[in-house]
Amino acid sequence: MADTIESVLNESRVFQPVPAAQLRFSHWHVPSLDVYKALHAKSLADPDTFWADAANHLAWFKPWSRVLDWNPPDAQWFVGGSLNACYNCVDRHVESGHGEDVGLIWEGEPLSRRTAHPATGSHYAPMHELRWLRYRELQQQTARLGNALKAMGVKKGDVVTIYMPMVPELVIAVLACARIGAAHSVIFGGFAPQAIVERVTDAKSRVIITADGGFRRGEIVELKKNVDEACETLATTPTKVTNVIVLQRTGSRIDWRPGRDVWWHDAVEAASADCPCEPMDSEDMLFLLYTSGSTGKPKGILHTTGGYLTFVNLTARLTFNLIPDAGQVFWCTADVGWVTGHSYVIYGVMSNRVPTLLYEGAPNFPANDRFWDIVARHRVTQLYTAPTAIRTFMKWGDDHPAKHNLSTLRVLGTVGEPINPEAWMWYHTHIGGGRCPVVDTYWQTETGGHVVTPLPGATPTKPGSCTLPMLGIDAAVVNEQGEELPPNQGGLFAIRRPWPGMLRGVFGDRDRFVKTYWSRLKDPATGQPFYFAADGARRDQDGYFWVMGRVDDVINVSGHRLGTMEVESALVSHPGVAEAAVVGMPHDLKGTGICAFVTLKPAWLKANARTPDDALKKELAAHVAKEIGPIARPDSVRFAEGLPKTRSGKIMRRLLRDVAAGVEKITQDTTTLEDFSVVAKLRADEE
Ligand code: WTA
Repeated sequence: MADTIESVLNESRVFQPVPAAQLRFSHWHVPSLDVYKALHAKSLADPDTFWADAANHLAWFKPWSRVLDWNPPDAQWFVGGSLNACYNCVDRHVESGHGEDVGLIWEGEPLSRRTAHPATGSHYAPMHELRWLRYRELQQQTARLGNALKAMGVKKGDVVTIYMPMVPELVIAVLACARIGAAHSVIFGGFAPQAIVERVTDAKSRVIITADGGFRRGEIVELKKNVDEACETLATTPTKVTNVIVLQRTGSRIDWRPGRDVWWHDAVEAASADCPCEPMDSEDMLFLLYTSGSTGKPKGILHTTGGYLTFVNLTARLTFNLIPDAGQVFWCTADVGWVTGHSYVIYGVMSNRVPTLLYEGAPNFPANDRFWDIVARHRVTQLYTAPTAIRTFMKWGDDHPAKHNLSTLRVLGTVGEPINPEAWMWYHTHIGGGRCPVVDTYWQTETGGHVVTPLPGATPTKPGSCTLPMLGIDAAVVNEQGEELPPNQGGLFAIRRPWPGMLRGVFGDRDRFVKTYWSRLKDPATGQPFYFAADGARRDQDGYFWVMGRVDDVINVSGHRLGTMEVESALVSHPGVAEAAVVGMPHDLKGTGICAFVTLKPAWLKANARTPDDALKKELAAHVAKEIGPIARPDSVRFAEGLPKTRSGKIMRRLLRDVAAGVEKITQDTTTLEDFSVVAKLRADEE
């Protein structure tokens, strides 16, 4: 887009919050910047009281005795307390007389057509596939599935893998696990069988919940086939999958393994709807969510029950000004396979008793205005999506949103990657009609929920800045010594004290947990560790945060996190590849695209009569998509004679990033093989 680094640095527009009534809110939870500042100061001065108040928005079976035990880097929140996450999202709403209220609104992707009225002749109208699920039904469904899981031997503490399309049963599966005290590990439906193998193995998960398929852009994604393939590989390892629960969604033909596979409808029908919510210790595991790091395989980020739920309940309420019984419909467009879906499709929103909308498919099916059609028909009040989606909508044109009545919208959120001011302005103008506050929420899988974000009734916003820390969050930009930097100086984003939504570990890898997050930065005064987020940032003269992006080898492609090493391993698993280096490159729509530099094996080329040509580039890109999933498909594959390395043999990634960004001119013809030797020599001493 048209934003340049200079224009982002010089961004000076400020949008003031407006009175609640102007946006048809009864009130703002945090009504002004002064109130925010006072609350934030108080939350840091007396964190125990602040977090206890936050936790009291939940229903606890047993109260905690201490708010926090902090033995860096280990935190225990709400010590001794017990609660259940499903109970807080579903059952307590039934018990408080809201059983008949809608908790989940769902729209499927496919449209069928019907005659509107026989008298009008040949007029056809699209027919949407819709479901409204009330809390009572969600209670019964999670109870039945919970019992079905128990009947398969799933016990408290076990990990259940979920690999499903965006259908109500996905939410039911997640909550059913929480109900019986099993941890869920949701795998994004766009990941390939190998990703399932790695995650199931790491979590030692014996039960997988999936579907025969899912709809995406009118095509069927063969989920069960991927699970079958993964199970075949797993059968040769000590991790055996004993049961696969299969939801019938598409009616596609699938292979069936009797004894292992069971239809969702059979399992649920056979199970009783009497399944009390298991009391969980506040620190019992709620879920694992695998995410990419800079080294090795994806890591299982571990979140626990009491702290995570307290944090997402608080942040969802404040950031989006959620109010029950006020006609709100909250729509987060993220897939439940990512943390955004966990926190702001399910736990944060449902625990606030505001209906959450789930849409199964693509934004351009059957046409480019599907999202706006959904917003208008369901009268969506808060919309939460990613900058990549916004940039895509910009490209598709203003006329798509203009066709629809978007006047119900009140708060617009973005997440996942820095938003460029131009996209922010477009979102504000064309979707928000110039009246809706835009909340650019900065956070990570590891933080559980928003750590830096505007509050819509309080924070003046600046396009491109995620603004100020969430209440209770002590965020800072520091140097390598942990010292806070003066305004407008770039440094490392850090959080200086624990918060309830923070990760409690990397599953099965204590070392990686300590090294990745808690060893890099410490308080220069006390020596206590700070949380290291691996993002670069600066604060401006008003204390506003501007996130500059990852400082490790993780890239953010369309707001999806990928490790460059994962893509490199996928590339070198191709028989023709000798070596690969993957870096991010600027991309108009995706924010960051994937650029792969590859050296080929001469012997393989010769034996297979191949040349380093476009066909081979395409083949390698497709190979990565098959190994990891379509989101990891490189945008550019470039062949090189050798990769530029330092004297100690380290690949010069910074040089490659510059080359990928078009900053560095290569000294030779780049149509076939790139020769980095000259530039590499120039740079060797700098790296
Ligand atoms: C990036 C997604 C700038 C950041 C919730 C972070 C952002 C990574 C923003 C986490 C934002 C997320 N502005 N950058 N508003 N939100 N990021 O774990 O680099 O999938 O470290 O969590 O996304 O990605 P993850």
